[in-house]
Amino acid sequence: MTWLIKGGWLVTEDRVEKGDLLIEGEKISAIGSDLKVSGAEVLDARGKYVLPGIIDAHVHYQMPIGDLLTADDFYTGTMSAACGGVTTVVDYAEPSRPEDCLNEVIDRRLDEARDKAAVDFALHLVLLPGQEEDGEALREAVGRGLVSFKVFTTYNQRLSYAAIGRCLEQAKSLGALVTIHAEDHDTVMAAREELTGAGQTSPQYHAKSRPAAAEVEAVRRILEMARRLEARPYFVHISTGEAAELIVSARREGLEAYGETCPHYLLLTEEVYAGEDAALYLMCPPLRRKEDNLKLWQALSEGYFQVVATDHCSYTPAQKAAGTAFFNTPAGIPGSETLLPLLYSFGVREGWLSLPQLVQVLSGNPARLFGLYPRKGCLQVGSDADIVVFDPRQERVLEAGKLHSAAGYTPFAGFTVRGYPEATILRGRLIFYEGRFLGRPGQGKFIPGKARV
Ligand code: URP
Ligand code: ZN
Ligand code: ZN
Repeated sequence: MTWLIKGGWLVTEDRVEKGDLLIEGEKISAIGSDLKVSGAEVLDARGKYVLPGIIDAHVHYQMPIGDLLTADDFYTGTMSAACGGVTTVVDYAEPSRPEDCLNEVIDRRLDEARDKAAVDFALHLVLLPGQEEDGEALREAVGRGLVSFKVFTTYNQRLSYAAIGRCLEQAKSLGALVTIHAEDHDTVMAAREELTGAGQTSPQYHAKSRPAAAEVEAVRRILEMARRLEARPYFVHISTGEAAELIVSARREGLEAYGETCPHYLLLTEEVYAGEDAALYLMCPPLRRKEDNLKLWQALSEGYFQVVATDHCSYTPAQKAAGTAFFNTPAGIPGSETLLPLLYSFGVREGWLSLPQLVQVLSGNPARLFGLYPRKGCLQVGSDADIVVFDPRQERVLEAGKLHSAAGYTPFAGFTVRGYPEATILRGRLIFYEGRFLGRPGQGKFIPGKARV
């Protein structure tokens, strides 16, 4: 099919320019002004922004945790993502035990996604203790397109700091990236014990149970190691201003450290934990203070943070309600579908980000960091025709009933967004238009990442 997207404002990482964009088959085939092509389906984009498809570089679909599975599987998760302008997600291949063969873990995850994904996807590879030593298995994983490893400093999957150091070294030699959930486990456990001792275990105490100091300590220790090893750490879902400042200083010194944050850490605060619905906002790390929101916006605005992703990890209110304490309530919230409207409304319209910066943090940077560029993440002739037509005049109040995640709620209910996707195109196919999902399960392809050479 041939599409001519006419007369829109084409937004790239360095400019905003009025023009036309031609799609033939799955690729962008021409960009120019006044393109005329007979037989093309015309999409009138006058007054709209034409952006490269959004990449949500941090999602968890059908993720098992104890007896529970997250609410969204690869179909509902990617369908809701598509309705928000997302055309690529990066999920996780995750071993359940340190003895698991990584190749089989990857095969299984690809099988789970294959017939369900409605947008394209890549995978990060979670490493459990000891797996960072198996250079051959890691090399093979990178060869299969899993060019980023994921490690935790907390939870049952945690690695010691020394093991994370070995990961950083392996990744350096393989041209891969280590992405890190950074919350110091000892600090978290000390806070938990104190609260438990005082009988303060309800979800209302969640922020206190995982204090800012835990994130700051883990980020500090990993940055120290990365300096010594001249390695490249990528910190996922940074929530605190203080950790952001550590990453900013490290980058100013010349270290290649990367910062990712999420819309909830930019827009919500820990005050929500005082309410009845605390569990619906329970994610790790927890929400912080207004000052933290502002420091994170600043780090993004000044280009020290590279990525905004959602950590989409959805549970229904009923799943959440089964938890009785902060330590046994399923942690995570839905987010992919509201990523672009929120970042446009509160990032671009509020003056934190220019439109090219919006494209950098939601598309170009994640594509480059995870080896998908220039197939993904840009408007270039020859790239996959993954496009969002975004209408800056569409205004709506976010409400779960109009969103598509199986979570059935949004932590951003009641937020007014000014600007909303009108159309999402995945490799030349219109998969979302004027509020309706038009895609189908299985149309999303696995996109292997390329290692950095
Ligand atoms: O609470 C969260 N973030 N759940 C998903 C897993 C993780 O730590 O990213
Ligand atoms: Zn995490
Ligand atoms: Zn996560």
